[in-house]
Amino acid sequence: MKLEFKENGPIVIETGGRCVFRDAQGERVIEKPRVSLCRCGGSANKPFCDSTHKTNGFVAPAAVIEFDEDLVLDVSRL
Ligand code: FES
Repeated sequence: MKLEFKENGPIVIETGGRCVFRDAQGERVIEKPRVSLCRCGGSANKPFCDSTHKTNGFVAPAAVIEFDEDLVLDVSRL
């Protein structure tokens, strides 16, 4: 799994094709090769990016973190 912090944009997670998303509403499987998480705070669809970062002046550097494990997105305890 890889987390890519896009310059002036979201955190893009390479899922390998599938991940499980959990929040207060429950759990669902996301079958996409990557998901984008908001780090600008402006998305109306948090925790996912809705491209608001392109218009709200968000500035942040690019970076990458890589892991060797399966991904579970669990925001139910945030
Ligand atoms: S990073 Fe894209 S909407 Fe926040």
